[in-house]
Amino acid sequence: IQLPKAIIIIFGATGDLAKRKLFPSIYRLYQSGKIGEEFAVVGVARRPWTNETFRENVKESVENAVSVNSDLTSFTSHFYYHPFDVSNQSSYHSLKSLLSDLDEKYQTEGNRVFYLAMAPEFFGIIANNLKEHGLKDTNGWTRLVIEKPFGHDLASAQKLNDEIRAAFDEEQIYRIDHYLGKEMVQNIEVIRFANALFEHLWNNRFISNIQITSSESLGVEDRGNYYETSGALRDMVQNHMLQMVALLAMEPPIKLTTDEIRSEKIKVLRALRPIQENEVDSYFVRGQYTKGIINGKEVIGYREEANVDPDSNTETFVAGKILIDNYRWAGVPFYIRTGKRMKEKSTKIVVEFKDIPMNLYFKKESDRVPNLLVIHIQPDEGITLHLNAKKAGVSSEATPIKLSYNNNGIDGMNTPEAYERLLYDCMQGDATNFTHWDEVALSWAYVDPISNAWSRKKAAFPNYEAGSMGPKEADELLAKDGFHWWPI
Ligand code: BG6
Repeated sequence: IQLPKAIIIIFGATGDLAKRKLFPSIYRLYQSGKIGEEFAVVGVARRPWTNETFRENVKESVENAVSVNSDLTSFTSHFYYHPFDVSNQSSYHSLKSLLSDLDEKYQTEGNRVFYLAMAPEFFGIIANNLKEHGLKDTNGWTRLVIEKPFGHDLASAQKLNDEIRAAFDEEQIYRIDHYLGKEMVQNIEVIRFANALFEHLWNNRFISNIQITSSESLGVEDRGNYYETSGALRDMVQNHMLQMVALLAMEPPIKLTTDEIRSEKIKVLRALRPIQENEVDSYFVRGQYTKGIINGKEVIGYREEANVDPDSNTETFVAGKILIDNYRWAGVPFYIRTGKRMKEKSTKIVVEFKDIPMNLYFKKESDRVPNLLVIHIQPDEGITLHLNAKKAGVSSEATPIKLSYNNNGIDGMNTPEAYERLLYDCMQGDATNFTHWDEVALSWAYVDPISNAWSRKKAAFPNYEAGSMGPKEADELLAKDGFHWWPI
């Protein structure tokens, strides 16, 4: 494979994402030889920085995130800063000439990644100006990378999509869902479709339910402003959680191509049973944290956080029961839950298999445990299979055992960061792990009635203690189907 050559133009280069994720990811690609010397990064933002200030910032961000054992000067020399005003036409002119110069200097063949890592209200205007001012007219490829949030609901997402589609084709648009860049999220497909052991059982005859938990111990930090307009449903469920559902539920693709894989995921999202506004309470639970103790430290409640309404109706926790109306999944609930300030940071998938018709090996019915397949997404990466085996020495009684595979342990190295992988994929022109517009639209269509119902009715918040696993209603959601959350 040829090393990708390109200029990466980061809009919002002074922001948090660029600093925490993008610069370190570019460095790791450089360090591991996935990109050579034929690249440049142009940081674009309002602040009147110089190249030197910018490079200093890049250096600092890399040193904070990655262990660096060499001089960073040659790496940071690829970075340029361009002070910019989104709506000022001359900003685009000067950016255009800077890009042509750099194209020549670094032999990047006209390849450009425009990375929008800033407030979404500017996405449309920037995309259009890039087109109008000829920044896309090169001999190479041009791609647009878009960060979330992609809209606030279906209508606003549609409007945003129309705006960017006026300037870029669907094939040129890379919508980031960073969960799709995670090693073990990508592994879902392989575990399923590369193993006879699982795939034959992967349906409503053998699986009783699937549980996806993505818990965080952090609160909203300094993102109160954004989070107040979002809440956990928009922040996590519309994107990351539904993407995991799609990967767990999709049919095997006929080929490992972007179009085939995406089209299987889209079919799952089309089969989600819509929830009507008046039945939301039977399927979804919302929560908001109050003060509590996490890792021995006392933390404040959501309503006390900075930039949060003291009477806020915003949910910081969601649990839901999702049904998929197709041949494979009819009758199998997919339970999801996610929230801030929960007991620990962990993302895990538990696939619970149905009991066998008769099991003579447990004395008490209550000792019987079903087979579980646990996919550990983070912080541990691996899988655990819960089986039953004979209790050593004692007659013919069974006892639960676990078979575990730890991904990090085997490779002996940290797996690449999600952003590193996604940036690389984008430079290679591989959009498989980015979300197609149809996925975004279908996901919004699914969550919209839920958020509508919730915004109409004030919740009895706060209703879960920081450091817990959410409100008791989240447990009742499963209990009424005869299930319970498997401990994480
Ligand atoms: C982001 C959300 O998309 O995902 C954040 O905006 C959340 O609120 C984050 O904390 C979780 O990602 P990860 O990779 O830490 O699980």
